[in-house]
Amino acid sequence: MNANSSNSSNPKQDNNSRVSVDSNIDASYPDNHMPSSQPENSAPGQQMWGGRFSEATDSFVAAFTASVGFDQRFARHDIEGSIAHATMLKECDILTADEVATIIDGLQQVLREIEAGTFNWSITLEDVHMNVESRLTSIVGAVGKKLHTGRSRNDQVATDIRLWLREETDNIIALLIRLQSGLLSLAEQHTDTIMPGFTHLQTAQPVSFGHHVMAWFEMLYRDTQRLVDTRRRINQMPLGSAALAGTTFPIDRTITAELLGFEGICQNSLDAVSDRDFAIEFTSNASILMMHLSRMSEEIILWMSAQFNFVQIPDRFCTGSSIMPQKKNPDVPELVRGKTARVYGQLMTLLSLMKNQPLAYNKDNQEDKEPLFDCVDTLTGSLLAFADMLPNITPNIEAMREATMKGYATATDLADYLVRRGVAFRDAHEVVGNAVALGIKEGVDLSDLSLAQLQQFSDAIGDDVFDYLTLEGSLAARDHLGGTAPNQVKQAVINGRARLKAFA
Ligand code: ARG
Repeated sequence: MNANSSNSSNPKQDNNSRVSVDSNIDASYPDNHMPSSQPENSAPGQQMWGGRFSEATDSFVAAFTASVGFDQRFARHDIEGSIAHATMLKECDILTADEVATIIDGLQQVLREIEAGTFNWSITLEDVHMNVESRLTSIVGAVGKKLHTGRSRNDQVATDIRLWLREETDNIIALLIRLQSGLLSLAEQHTDTIMPGFTHLQTAQPVSFGHHVMAWFEMLYRDTQRLVDTRRRINQMPLGSAALAGTTFPIDRTITAELLGFEGICQNSLDAVSDRDFAIEFTSNASILMMHLSRMSEEIILWMSAQFNFVQIPDRFCTGSSIMPQKKNPDVPELVRGKTARVYGQLMTLLSLMKNQPLAYNKDNQEDKEPLFDCVDTLTGSLLAFADMLPNITPNIEAMREATMKGYATATDLADYLVRRGVAFRDAHEVVGNAVALGIKEGVDLSDLSLAQLQQFSDAIGDDVFDYLTLEGSLAARDHLGGTAPNQVKQAVINGRARLKAFA
């Protein structure tokens, strides 16, 4: 397994996940964390937007307001967006073909430097957008400064997030599909494996283990549907909205949208640069999905205990105890259950971030990135672990069967039998209750009571009753769509496979 282990840094960007700064700029806040009265880092006008300023940004403020420490994660998408924007400017005769060719060559060089880890990220340049643009200009000269024609960082950042989240959503959907196909194979192998089904965590009725696994499949299937649906709203293009009102240049947004693979264009410039509801929707789906993974984790943890002894999971998902030599702890499912909490937390962060922002862009929005990154990393890591772990659990078939025998799981079957013989359900319920009480007294299952013992509670009971008291009989009797009869579970697996294919 090669899970994304860390949630705080992007494993894909190990080379450049830290801000390695210009020689004279410190990446961290000044030691005392207080604004210094004498700004020392930059002269007035050094920043790319410094024209109207008479005083340099305080070094603390520069570090406090910068996002480059984390938004460099968008570098590839930022450059992809810039190349499309430049191409559109050429198509619309806003820049010349020569200018745009030079700009695109330069942007490709910037990308190579970033990928090679040789790029010098600067705090003074605030964010990924200005770092890239500044480097572009130092490579290609003044023409680099024309790239920002007809756009703003406001529509640029909104575009970057969407391009990045679209890609991450696709990765997550692919992981979900892998996990679900693993579950289909597991269910297929165990349509006839019997376990107790629970309500209130008390033995209720026998079910097929495959049926239980298919319940997990259904949860994950809806999670996949939700993500596929949300992807359509992620995949709308803000670019062209500029700062908030659009641009005075004769741009053609359909060109950029097509180049970037967006399926639609944000229809209102104020909304486009401002709202992050697509990210909230994603995080909300992620929360529901983590809730499902957490429930599955809880079951695995319980089932692995000596008291249940229902399943084993491969050793690679467990750890031992430093003091108790006998222990094999289910660390991976426990961690996934724990990590669910932080994804819920990120959802609350994003909802709260947006709740009182007036239109259009506000700097608050810079705070959208870290929660979203953490949510994506946590979810991706959890799914990587689950895609390998869950389909590889091994049920202890005998132990599950014994547990089912212990819980009078066929009591409802006996009641249904009596109803078919003309006894009213309430009366049948009473009869079976008496039979169960006798079983408990004698320490035996219903199927171990003699015919005479059973008949003392109702003369409607005949000698065919034992066909209905076996676990196999109980399962086979629930023979309808969605029921636990083994042939229904087999059919559910076939249907599941076909439904899963529709996502691919
Ligand atoms: N770093 C900013 C963010 O993440 C980019 C947009 C900045 N726009 C601005 N007008 N200051 O949101």
